[in-house]
Amino acid sequence: MWICGFILAVVTLALAYILIRFRRRDDGEPAQGTGNKTLEVVWTAVPIALVTTLFVLSVITARAVDRPLRAPDIVVVGHQWWWEVRYPASGAVTANEVHLPAGRDTLLQIDAADVVHDFWVPELGRKIDAVPGRHNYIWITAGRQATYRGACAEFCGPEHAWMRFRAVIDSPEVFDAWLAAEAAPAPQSAAADAVAGRTRFSQLTCANCHAVRGVNQQEPYAPDLTHVASRRMLAGERLENTSANLREWLHEPNLIKPNCLMPNLNLSDQDLSALTAYLESLR
Ligand code: CUA
Repeated sequence: MWICGFILAVVTLALAYILIRFRRRDDGEPAQGTGNKTLEVVWTAVPIALVTTLFVLSVITARAVDRPLRAPDIVVVGHQWWWEVRYPASGAVTANEVHLPAGRDTLLQIDAADVVHDFWVPELGRKIDAVPGRHNYIWITAGRQATYRGACAEFCGPEHAWMRFRAVIDSPEVFDAWLAAEAAPAPQSAAADAVAGRTRFSQLTCANCHAVRGVNQQEPYAPDLTHVASRRMLAGERLENTSANLREWLHEPNLIKPNCLMPNLNLSDQDLSALTAYLESLR
């Protein structure tokens, strides 16, 4: 800033001086001068030296900020239009919620499953692109307990606006407890409607896209539902995760999120109730 401020002052003063000193006083043209080797060398060499210095300082800073890589703590995968969030060490998988321990250096690997997305939580630092076929990495050290809104910051299709998520920063103890709970297989409710819902979940095509760990294994085409009831929001932050909203979402996904890849299965009232009860049992 001081270097640039100095240059600004010199240029402004020189300009003011020249405008006044060489202003037109009569009809005659002022004396013309061209070519000054010394001046030209100076105003070529000085900027090159300055830009080189700033470049070296930037590289040093970038290297200090981006510490060396190791195995990532969290793998975030951008999908049209939701975020898959995996914790490889524990096996926990969730969606549209990134939980982070306050004060711990956390390395995130950012991937994309289909098109370019961009992971961004403004309060936690810069944006980082999610690019198909390559891994990007970002270190995040979250300062204090808080919940921040995050968004996809690269246009990625019609539902780009509803590719939101949240970053939940907890104390390390609360985070560890959350992670252990998320890593556990799905709870098995004995309630009659939840049991019926579990059967329908497999019979209908839900299980072809959504994994429920302990029940079915599935490539992550759609959000992992093992502990879906523990999440605050549904459908990329489009809806609060309430019983009524969940039912509405299952009933007509495209009304809530037009163009989303969740199909309308034309579920009967009975199926809607059973599936809602089952998904709500997945705490
Ligand atoms: Cu993903 Cu925009």
